[in-house]
Amino acid sequence: MYRDVSNRAKETAAANQPLAEGIPLSSDADRTPFITVDDFEHAAKRVLRPEVWDYLSGGAGDEITLRWNREDFDRIKVRPRVLVDVSHIDTRLTLWGCEIPSPILLAPTGYHRLFHPEGELETARGASAANSLWVVSSFATVAIEEVSAKCTSSLWFQLYVQQDRGFTAELVERVEQAGCRALVVTVDTPVLGSRSRELRSGWALPPGIERVHLRGLGSDAATASHRPHEQEIYSAVLDASLSWKDIDWLRSMTRLPILLKGILSSQDAAQAVSAGVDGIIVSNHGARNLDTVPSTIHALPEVIEAIAGRLPVLFDGGVRRGTDVLKALAHGASAVFIGRPYLFGLSVAGAEGVAHVTRLLQSELRMAMALTGRTQLSQIDRSLLWP
Ligand SMILES: Cc1cc2nc3c(=O)[nH]c(=O)nc-3n(C[C@H](O)[C@H](O)[C@H](O)COP(=O)(O)O)c2cc1C
Repeated sequence: MYRDVSNRAKETAAANQPLAEGIPLSSDADRTPFITVDDFEHAAKRVLRPEVWDYLSGGAGDEITLRWNREDFDRIKVRPRVLVDVSHIDTRLTLWGCEIPSPILLAPTGYHRLFHPEGELETARGASAANSLWVVSSFATVAIEEVSAKCTSSLWFQLYVQQDRGFTAELVERVEQAGCRALVVTVDTPVLGSRSRELRSGWALPPGIERVHLRGLGSDAATASHRPHEQEIYSAVLDASLSWKDIDWLRSMTRLPILLKGILSSQDAAQAVSAGVDGIIVSNHGARNLDTVPSTIHALPEVIEAIAGRLPVLFDGGVRRGTDVLKALAHGASAVFIGRPYLFGLSVAGAEGVAHVTRLLQSELRMAMALTGRTQLSQIDRSLLWP
């Protein structure tokens, strides 16, 4: 339970602060119940500045895929089984040597200091409290070494390959040294999508908030907008020339497991297998890049079929309930990521919010498993889906 957020929202707006301030736990009688991810979403909207809210919650174009990411989950029905002994539920799994208690992981998201003054340090505390694996973004606002020092759960690093390949190679070495256990290469963003809501509200990086991992890349790579100049499509901090041969190059220079994030089609899934990567993530970037691509839960079966068990397939997009996690696993995903949900938590209550959102989804998943008669992740398969 967190204190009613209305006063905090007024204070934040009045002070015109660029950053959201975490709302402390309170035992006051006057409090908002935080029972679902949606409760955190509503509260986050009230504590964040409107343009930061638009950056966090918005999608590409007319936000049609953003809507589908949710609606397509809602259309799937599950088939329960009864009279199964579910007095012990085990959701543990191991991914590339990382032992995790639940298949709910934290997706890479940029600029955490927009959501909390302590930024990624606070997320590190929250991920540690929930013992959840977290992928730190290339666009983080706190250095990976500091994050790693605060985080007791497993860390992976998300890479936006830069045009300067020497710089990219040094960054990969640096994150490996800092203790990251896998590299998540985002492959669905050669250019940014048309984020109309973000553009309309005039979102820009506030002074003092930097992409710290891009320091030293160019004069203003750490601070400039990731958006191109008007009527341009190319961004200075994304490499539009990235192609499969660069995946071979990455493969040759690091021993870290490599996952490609942003695969939606069977053709790209098959090519990922040929490229010798270790895993893929079915993702449409939280519907922030190309509007009217299918929802990720719609695309997942095609990818699973193409991969045919040769690689682990991870998933993200629209997960807001334990039943969504169950449905993605039933379609063949090994684990799912959440993006916006833990940022809602971070905005509302810092580390406690991140941990609370993660734990509530973990317990919703266990409940859904018990109610469908599944005690192990390995028992979650297509037979759980109502045809
Ligand atoms: C505010 C925000 C920032 C994001 N930043 C990144 C990023 O830096 N790198 C990346 O690969 N994906 C980024 N993503 C996409 C997420 O990793 C993930 O694919 C998406 O949020 C999943 O959908 P969900 O928000 O519905 O859970 C971002 C998403 C959001 C909402």
